[in-house]
Amino acid sequence: MKRIVFATNNAHKLSEVSAVLGDGYELVTLKEVGITEDIPETGATLDENASIKARYVYERTGLDCFADDTGLEVEALNGAPGVHSARYATDGHDFAANNAKLLRELEDKENRNARFRTVISLIRNGIEEQVEGIVEGTIATSLSGNEGFGYDPLFVPKGYDRTFAEMSADEKNAISHRGRAVAALVKIL
Ligand code: IMP
Repeated sequence: MKRIVFATNNAHKLSEVSAVLGDGYELVTLKEVGITEDIPETGATLDENASIKARYVYERTGLDCFADDTGLEVEALNGAPGVHSARYATDGHDFAANNAKLLRELEDKENRNARFRTVISLIRNGIEEQVEGIVEGTIATSLSGNEGFGYDPLFVPKGYDRTFAEMSADEKNAISHRGRAVAALVKIL
């Protein structure tokens, strides 16, 4: 089994990613390698932030590792919240406030097209590669479902009439931005 550090402390993400990666990999968490501080996300794009996080881990541990950064890009909001998705409404990761703000911002908008985009930076033997995964969809007019996290109760993937929060983890993983980015990661691993 290959060991690889996943630069996250988010338990949801960890279980989503390990489900897609399968049995061939043992995912090591930040805590397990002694990184307990928040890694600064100072990049202006998802690509930059994924890279910053992966390099941070590699520089401190020398271990093979990967980091992801995800944003919800809403067409009528010119790609917002994008790289600011976690802190859209407040300084913290307040999912309810973020969803409320998104609904407010789209109140008078007919175009509710949006996409989730995940960028993963992988560093192996000191060499960095990036892959991405995208899922297109629309933003619903009200919240539905209790699964998942973040903007899941508002995001309806294209071809479905349910939000991500109304899907099982397996169903979401099969079509999600992160699922697709991890599938692309597995291809190059
Ligand atoms: P991160 O870069 O993966 O931490 O994601 C930034 C923010 O995007 C999170 O705080 C969530 O608000 C949102 N987000 C990321 N992935 C998902 C997802 O799979 N569903 C819903 N929201 C997500």
